[in-house]
Amino acid sequence: MKNIKKIGIITGGGDCSGLNAVIDGVTKSAIRKHGLEVVGYYRGYHGLLNNEFMELDLKKASGIMHRGGTILKSSNKDNLFNYRMQNEDGSFEHKDVSNVAVANMKKEGVDALVVIGGDGTLTSARDFYRKGIPVVGVPKTIDNDLPATDVTFGYNTSLETITDALDKIHTTAHSHDRIMVVEVMGRNTGWLALEGGLAGSADIILIPEIPYDIHKVVEKIKERDSIGKNFSVVVVSEGAKPKGGEVTIRETVEDSADSIRLGGIGDVVTHQLQKLIPEHEVRYTNLAYIQRGGITSQFDRALGLQFGVKAVDLLMTGNAGSMVQLRGRKLTSIALEEVVGRGETGETSVGGAKHVDPNGQLVETCRAIGISFGE
Ligand code: F6P
Repeated sequence: MKNIKKIGIITGGGDCSGLNAVIDGVTKSAIRKHGLEVVGYYRGYHGLLNNEFMELDLKKASGIMHRGGTILKSSNKDNLFNYRMQNEDGSFEHKDVSNVAVANMKKEGVDALVVIGGDGTLTSARDFYRKGIPVVGVPKTIDNDLPATDVTFGYNTSLETITDALDKIHTTAHSHDRIMVVEVMGRNTGWLALEGGLAGSADIILIPEIPYDIHKVVEKIKERDSIGKNFSVVVVSEGAKPKGGEVTIRETVEDSADSIRLGGIGDVVTHQLQKLIPEHEVRYTNLAYIQRGGITSQFDRALGLQFGVKAVDLLMTGNAGSMVQLRGRKLTSIALEEVVGRGETGETSVGGAKHVDPNGQLVETCRAIGISFGE
């Protein structure tokens, strides 16, 4: 293994809370513990390709840990091993431009990379490792759908936001006897809806893992009406689908590791409910990117910092080609080869998505206290 003196940080894929905490942990431990120099590439692999970076020092890594997003900016495009380029005649073709990135690293004396991202970003990290670059991956997502780690940073902050939003939405639901439908993110898994809905006192939670029957949702609302609870809060995961039906696609994004963007099922459910229960006003709120922003929670700050420090330790102890993971309360690692490139939903599904167990403890807890899944 080559002698590492200078490392580069890359943040790729959708942003989430805790990314800056990882940058903080990587930078400070690299400088203080290992005596390294650190640079941060702008906009994920785009910065590596165009040699756009900032020098990171103790001052620049200070005061960032609590801030959402990433000071390095991010991109969920730019696969340098299959890069989309426009020809003079306006047509597009895909080329492997990874050698340009490697040459840039060499020019700047960057010996190794810490890459923070989901499946698409970490698949490229694996490919750079195969090319001989020492790389360590750090998994990130708000969706909590990574089987390769028990939990990742970003999820906790999103849950706090969802819970807070549901508390607020309850006041209008109660004052107006309304049915409030709230759509949350999560791609093809229902973790955000389930844990956020449980903590935020949802009455009905619709998740991808339990296809719903709209008439069962109506039944639950009427049951609540019958005991004098003339309002209901329905949390809908963006990946929820009716029994025998399909997911609702918001848009497809060209040249993204996962081109499908879900969204809009909350609107669909709202219209269906309004027709079936005209006696109630039904209103729809989509929490969308509010779930990804804001101040990072204590949990995500602490986890992000630990992931960052561990990533540099792995690099410096000859464990390049691996990804940081949390198992129980222990930080450990797993080979990138074992976890990437198998995603069923793209950028956030390192190693195939981790789904909610429809008969697991969380779902059973919800059922026991009367929360309906529209089954
Ligand atoms: O994976 C994180 C996530 O926020 C998902 O919950 C959501 O489906 C997706 O990213 C949205 O992606 P984009 O930022 O490209 O719209």
